Amino acid sequence: MTEQDPNAMSEAEARAEFHQLDAQIAKADLDYHQKDAPTLSDAEYDRLKRRYLALAEAFPDLASEGARVETVGAPVASGFGKVTHAVRMMSLGNAFEDQDVEDFVAGLRRYLGFPPDAPLALTAEPKIDGLSLSLRYENGTLVQAATRGDGSVGENVTANARTIADIPQEIAGAPEVLEVRGEVYMSHADFEALNARHAETGGKIFANPRNAAAGSLRQLDAEITRARPLRFFAYSWGELTAPLAETQFEAIERFRSFGFQTNPLTWRCETIAELLAHYHSIEEQRADLGYDIDGVVYKVDDLSLQERLGFRSTTPRWAIAHKFPAELAWTRLDGIDIQVGRTGALSPVARLQPVTVGGVVVSNATLHNEDYIRGLDSKGAQIREGKDIRIGDWVQIYRAGDVIPKVADVDLKRRPEGASPYVFPTTCPRCNSAAVREEGDAVRRCSGGLICPAQAVEKLKHFVSRAAFDIEGLGAKQVEQFHADDWVKEPADIFELKEKYGSGMQQLKNREGWGDKSATALFAAIDDKRRIALARLIFGLGIRHVGEVAAKDVALHFRTWTALAEAADLARPAALAHRAADEAELLERQRAQAEDRRAKISEARKAAIATCEVAAEAQAAWDDLVSIDGLGPTVALSLSDAFANPEERAAFDRLVRHLKIIAPDAPAADSPVAGKTVVFTGTLEKMTRAEAKARAEALGAKVSGSVSKKTDILIAGPGAGSKATKAADLGIQTLDEDQWLELIGQA
Ligand code: IVH
Repeated sequence: MTEQDPNAMSEAEARAEFHQLDAQIAKADLDYHQKDAPTLSDAEYDRLKRRYLALAEAFPDLASEGARVETVGAPVASGFGKVTHAVRMMSLGNAFEDQDVEDFVAGLRRYLGFPPDAPLALTAEPKIDGLSLSLRYENGTLVQAATRGDGSVGENVTANARTIADIPQEIAGAPEVLEVRGEVYMSHADFEALNARHAETGGKIFANPRNAAAGSLRQLDAEITRARPLRFFAYSWGELTAPLAETQFEAIERFRSFGFQTNPLTWRCETIAELLAHYHSIEEQRADLGYDIDGVVYKVDDLSLQERLGFRSTTPRWAIAHKFPAELAWTRLDGIDIQVGRTGALSPVARLQPVTVGGVVVSNATLHNEDYIRGLDSKGAQIREGKDIRIGDWVQIYRAGDVIPKVADVDLKRRPEGASPYVFPTTCPRCNSAAVREEGDAVRRCSGGLICPAQAVEKLKHFVSRAAFDIEGLGAKQVEQFHADDWVKEPADIFELKEKYGSGMQQLKNREGWGDKSATALFAAIDDKRRIALARLIFGLGIRHVGEVAAKDVALHFRTWTALAEAADLARPAALAHRAADEAELLERQRAQAEDRRAKISEARKAAIATCEVAAEAQAAWDDLVSIDGLGPTVALSLSDAFANPEERAAFDRLVRHLKIIAPDAPAADSPVAGKTVVFTGTLEKMTRAEAKARAEALGAKVSGSVSKKTDILIAGPGAGSKATKAADLGIQTLDEDQWLELIGQA
């Protein structure tokens, strides 16, 4: 449907569309601000908002009927500009129990090679429940403020940030470039007053201070932000041209000297006991602080150690958030829906009577799988004292931070009479294929593969998602639409859209939500992704267990699609042998309990024996696949299955014909170990295994877990065993730790 000119519409028509848009935008706002899980692309959101405002302008009476009146008249046309962060804005790993904190500190010591008695100070400070903001100062002047966004690209909210009193416009004595990072939040008192004011004037009522802060900062009209009482705590930094200090604690003190607010409960702790004591003390003060916090953040104090520890893909190794226990609420379970995921997993979702949990309205909760509904965990042990969950039950919901709500408990006294145990479907609710549960898998999966529309759509959504092909203008919603209309059944179809329907561009333009510009832009965005990095392609295929990190490792290892496909083919017999052996072992273990499985066992055994004697070539290819750093047999098998499945393989082949696949960046050429495959074995004395691996990778080496013909260097410390022997047999260069450090220039 093309957009009708508002001036040519009747008021009734306009009202109908206006209310529909109002609901759509409200949902998108909720997903974005409350759930932090946007369901619309920015472009799509802006389009809805523009249309909404155009209708409100043409029919002024409508404006007062919309809940989003407050932004009517604001210049929404372009939304916020995008800002690419000079240094990624990270998130934090979570700890929930004291034990998690102990494990975290033990992990730090292990990584750093610190014995238990070596001093290791950490700071502890409240985790503010607001939204993070990065402030860029150049020569002491605030030049840019950006929200976190997806961590790499945020929104430019400079004009808005300038209206916040806690944010200095000028600072003295700072490095030439300094990015100060911290949290924008609203105090309880200001939040109550704002809502009271809005209740009187008919303005928007916010569910909690965090939403109020986010909604206020992300105003397109900075004057609205100015009228909102926002505050800011500085706690971290991005780009820097000169070091701020030697420790985290002193860096925060410098922020204070620049005129920032820093949290007075930031402490420096020497021991785990001190960390935990401070955590409990903050927890006790929580209700009186006057603003929301949801935990305590611990950070390694010594900045040179922070540097050594570095980052995982999205979180620093040197910090963790110790969350407060979840908030709880009781409500009624109205029903259970089954969603079918990308890999066919049937996921039960609780439909709840809406209830406020920790300031957020919750109407869905995850029920994980059939065992969880029955009151059992993945190991068969009881959860909720074994109470099962039935439709109509009163259930206790909990939410821990941003985690999806879960069912903590069931009130058996309020169970409706006649409620019967939930029967989990054994066929796929979408395609009716059998839904099977394999040995050792907690999840029941639709066996329909690509014929299942739910799986196909979820795979497509994954394919176009940000970390995969990231096609601008082709989000979840558009994919659903194209799939429903049979235009796109599999990824390859995306690249044939223009060919098939482009000449009939009119066809696309005639569809709801598409205009001349957006259709042209979509085809351009698709063309743009015909050149794609191998890692993104592998990730985008949506193979079970193959996440972003594994996809990168596989891409680095094979470098080309052809090499990967050939290796998968070559390794297939050995992969099957591995599975058969695994199955035989599993069945063997169960033999005592299950007499009737005898026949199955002997079958599996025969299969194992038949396939175990695989060609040495296949075995070597399989060993190579499994040895890709951190991959292991589960991921390797899943990869092998995907390539061996005829329908999937055909879909891959159809897809890659449209692509120019780019090999991963060649490792730094000036490094003596770039592109080399190295294996560490035995005890390292100068550093830990994790650190050695991280350093080798930083120099462009591949670190593998096992020695094979492909190994270039074995670094053997004292106590090296069979790997050293094997390396010697294969004539592989073997170095001790010092020789290795010398080679990489870090002696
Ligand atoms: S440090 C590289 N400190 O929590 C480390 N984060 O879950 C950067 N947050 O995105 C984060 N209070 O928005 C840090 N005292 C604090 C914090 C804090 C709140 C937020 C921040 C971050 C999120 C991660």
